[in-house]
Amino acid sequence: MNDQAQGDFAGKVVIVTGAGSGIGRAVARAFARAGARVLGVARRVQTLEETAADHARIAVHAADLRDPHTPQQVIDTATGLWGRVDVLVNNAGATKVMPLGETTADGIAGLFALNVTAPSLLAAAALPHLRSTEGSIVNVSSTYGHRPLPGGAHYAASKAALEQLTRSWALELAADRVRVNALAPGPTESQALAAAGLPEQVVEQIKRDEAARIPLGRRGNPEEVATWILRLADPAATWLTGQILTIDGGLELA
Ligand SMILES: NC(=O)c1ccc[n+]([C@@H]2O[C@H](COP(=O)([O-])OP(=O)(O)OC[C@H]3O[C@@H](n4cnc5c(N)ncnc54)[C@H](OP(=O)(O)O)[C@@H]3O)[C@@H](O)[C@H]2O)c1
Repeated sequence: MNDQAQGDFAGKVVIVTGAGSGIGRAVARAFARAGARVLGVARRVQTLEETAADHARIAVHAADLRDPHTPQQVIDTATGLWGRVDVLVNNAGATKVMPLGETTADGIAGLFALNVTAPSLLAAAALPHLRSTEGSIVNVSSTYGHRPLPGGAHYAASKAALEQLTRSWALELAADRVRVNALAPGPTESQALAAAGLPEQVVEQIKRDEAARIPLGRRGNPEEVATWILRLADPAATWLTGQILTIDGGLELA
C-alpha cells in the first residue's frame, strides 16, 4: 500500500458501492487518484477487479447489497483493512421499467432493497466511524428523484426516498459534524439501461431521445459526474450539508 499518497483525500478511507461499472467505477478511480484508499463494492468480482487494475489503493468486496448482512460486512472489511471510514458513497442502484399495470411486490421490493434499504444500512453501520472522522455521506440519486418518471414510478420514488433520507440525516448528524449530501445525475453513459434488461435497440433509442432533450446536446459521461461526488465529499466543503446537486446538462430546466 502506498502511504505517500498526495491529493485532497490522502489518508482518507472511502467506500464506493456499485464500483464495478459506470459512475461508481469512475468515482472509485477518482478518489484513488486523489490519494484515498478505496473499498469498491458490487456483486461481480471480475468487474470490480477491472476497476482496481492499475490503482493500488483500490480494494474490492464482492457481495449483494440486497442481503441485509452485507452492509455491516462492507464496513468491517474497510475498517479491518485501514481502521477508519471517512466517506461513504451510496452509488449502487438499479433502474426498472415497471408501468403501474405491471407492478409487482417483488419488483418494488427488489428496487427498494438496493436503492433505499442498502444505503440506509450502510450509513447506519458506518456511523460510528464517520462520527470519529467527522466524515461524510454522498448518496447518488437521479433527476428522477425530484421529477416524475412515467413507466418507472417506483425507480423515481426510490430516489425521492434517498433524497429525503439525505436531508433528514443531514440534520440528524449535523451535531456530530457528519455531512450528508446527494448528487442527482441526468442520463449518463453506463451499464444501467442494459442492466434493467432492455434490448439493445431500445437502449440505443432511449439514448438518442435523451441526448436530443438535453440542452447541452449529449448524455453525460461517468467521469464528469464523479468529479462532483468528490467535491461534495471534499473535507474542504465543511459547511455544505443536506444538499441535492443536479448535474444533467441543463435537462431539468428544459
Ligand atoms: N446512468 C444514468 O443515466 C444515471 C442517471 C441518474 C442516476 N443514476 C444512478 O447512478 C448510480 C450508478 O448507476 P450507473 O448508471 O453507473 O449504473 P451501472 O453501470 O449499472 O452500475 C451499477 C453498479 O451497481 C452494482 N450493483 C447492482 N446491483 C447490485 C447489488 N444488488 N449489490 C451490489 N452491487 C450492485 C453493479 O455491479 P454488479 O452488477 O456486479 O453488482 C454496478 O457496479 C445508480 O444509483 C443510478 O440509479 C444513473
